[in-house]
Parts: sequence; C-alpha cells; structure tokens
Amino acid sequence: MSKLTICDHPLIQHKLTYIRDKNTNTKDFRELVDEVATMMAYEITRDLPLETIPVETPVTTAQGKVISGRMLGLVPILRAGLGMVDGMLQLIPAAKVGHIGLFRDPETLKPVEYYVNLPSDAAERLLIVVDPMLATGGSANAAIETLKKRGCLNLKLMCLIASPEGVKAVQEAHPDVDIFIASLDECLNDHGYIVPGLGDAGDRMYGTK
Ligand code: URA
Repeated sequence: MSKLTICDHPLIQHKLTYIRDKNTNTKDFRELVDEVATMMAYEITRDLPLETIPVETPVTTAQGKVISGRMLGLVPILRAGLGMVDGMLQLIPAAKVGHIGLFRDPETLKPVEYYVNLPSDAAERLLIVVDPMLATGGSANAAIETLKKRGCLNLKLMCLIASPEGVKAVQEAHPDVDIFIASLDECLNDHGYIVPGLGDAGDRMYGTK
C-alpha cells in the first residue's frame, strides 16, 4: 500500500482555508495555490537522497551534503495542475516539466488522453504528478498509467485536496505511488465534486465560468 502524507503544516492549512473560500478572487486564489505548492514541494522532496562532498569554508574544509544526482520532473495534469507548477519550481528550479492532457468521455465517463509531452529522459527521473483535486482518482490513475507505459516507474502524486474515494482508487491501482495532499476531505457529491472542497479548481484558477 502506498503512503498517504497529509501536509499539515500550519501555513499550508491557513492558506488552504482561503483557497477554499468562495469569496477569494482569481488573483488571490492563484497566488495562494502557488504558495501552497511551494510548501508542499518542500515536503514531497524531504526524502531525496544526499551525498557528502568536501566544501572549503573560509575557515577549513568541511563535509557538506548535496542532493545526489536524483533528477526531478513535474507532470501537471491539464489544466488545473498547471497552477501548481510555478510554485514548485521556486524550490526545484532544475526540474523538467512534462504535460498530460485528459478529458472525460461524456459517454463512458472515463478519462481520455489528448496530449502527452514528456522530457526525453523522463524515465530516469523521479516524476511528481500534480493535480489540485484528487476526486474519483480517474484522471490521476490514467496519468500514472500513461507514465508507466512509457517506462516512468519512479512516481509520486501531489494534490491539494483529496476525497477518500480518490485516495483509495489510486492506492489500489498503484500501490507503489506515494500520495501527498494538504487535506483529506469528506466525500464526493453526486456531481463528482469534493465536499467541502473548493469547487472547480480550473475555473477558480483561470476565472472561467
Ligand atoms: N475537480 C475539481 O476541480 N473539483 C472537484 O471538487 C473535483 C474535481
């Protein structure tokens, strides 16, 4: 079973409350998502391996630690996932960014892939799949399957808000993919929205609808 980490830092929880608030405008929503994404990037990179190298200080030679060669990639699921990328890049500017576009087939209600563009060395990287909302788990699972089919096996998933149903769906389908979220909400409603959630993340981020 994959690990579920709830990033419960007070600053993340504080900002998440204002992200949820229906009176938060588009500009503030975007900025808050950006800031929370930066802080969550800090948590999700906590176990990156380190190596020791010598460093000359003004006083002597010391043994310092640097991240050891593990290359990172971010893979936002279009479109709402895009809103978390810049915040993460603040902390990990050398990460490459791939994109996966999915839409929901109105007949089957299953996610259909319409766009995939990944760094050429994606399979050698630790890839963080990014989507603000983990609702049914359908999109996250489809994105993870797309990546695995292309040989990308070192994956993590980062979302702002998850439903218990979404977490279960991803953990069952991909027990090797650890999940990082800022909140585990109550449930999904009949329209597939997370309750209490924040509404439609893409619409709130881009001011559509
Ligand atoms: N996608 C969203 O943007 N919001 C939800 O609540 C569920 C899926």
